[in-house]
Amino acid sequence: MTQDELKAAVADAAIKEIEPHLEKNTVLGIGTGSTANLFIDRLAPLSERFKGAVASSEASAKRLQALGIEVFELNSVGDVPFYIDGADEVNANLQMIKGGGAALTREKIVAACAKRFICIADGSKYVAQLGNFPLPVEVIPMARSYVARELVKLGADPVYRQGVVTDNGNQIIDCFDFMIDDPASMEARINAIVGVVTNGLFAQRGADVLLLSTENGVERTALR
Ligand code: 5RP
Repeated sequence: MTQDELKAAVADAAIKEIEPHLEKNTVLGIGTGSTANLFIDRLAPLSERFKGAVASSEASAKRLQALGIEVFELNSVGDVPFYIDGADEVNANLQMIKGGGAALTREKIVAACAKRFICIADGSKYVAQLGNFPLPVEVIPMARSYVARELVKLGADPVYRQGVVTDNGNQIIDCFDFMIDDPASMEARINAIVGVVTNGLFAQRGADVLLLSTENGVERTALR
């Protein structure tokens, strides 16, 4: 199977996971990226069965709206029963690196509000240790060089992601050569640097359910 076929299979599995729980007042949290896009496409035919969605990026909001799914501001929504999103890396504790698409901050906010985070990924994303994928850090533009120097002190090789402006008007630094022993602690340490908006470690609030697409089918792991 190609990676795209694996992504399609896990998007199908995510629909099966949430479909029994859809109600007229349900507002779903929707992530960003190619796997999330495939999920959005499969969600569209069910749009009459639920109220709408909150999106973790302008790109996902546009895709949802184009397919007839109403998009709400997070501040106007009470309960988000499910957040469905991809990952750049995920480990056995369902901790992740995210932000390859620069949407990490809004992803983290919607994930924080959600009762259940369902991570949808193809098998290439599953790792024993997080860090091979360069860890994204969203920074306030004027703090970029300062934050980069602080990241060097933590052992990273920080590289400015040229030409990328996040939906929040900020910039991204990617941390290369940065294998992470204790994801929750590193998440907190990086977030404590002045000028950091957030970093792409989703460890303190990891996923609750992982749907992982492999040649042998979609494997389901539920921690909670
Ligand atoms: C975007 C993300 C995505 O979830 C992550 O990059 C995975 O993307 P894809 O599904 O295209 O492989 O964190 O900021």
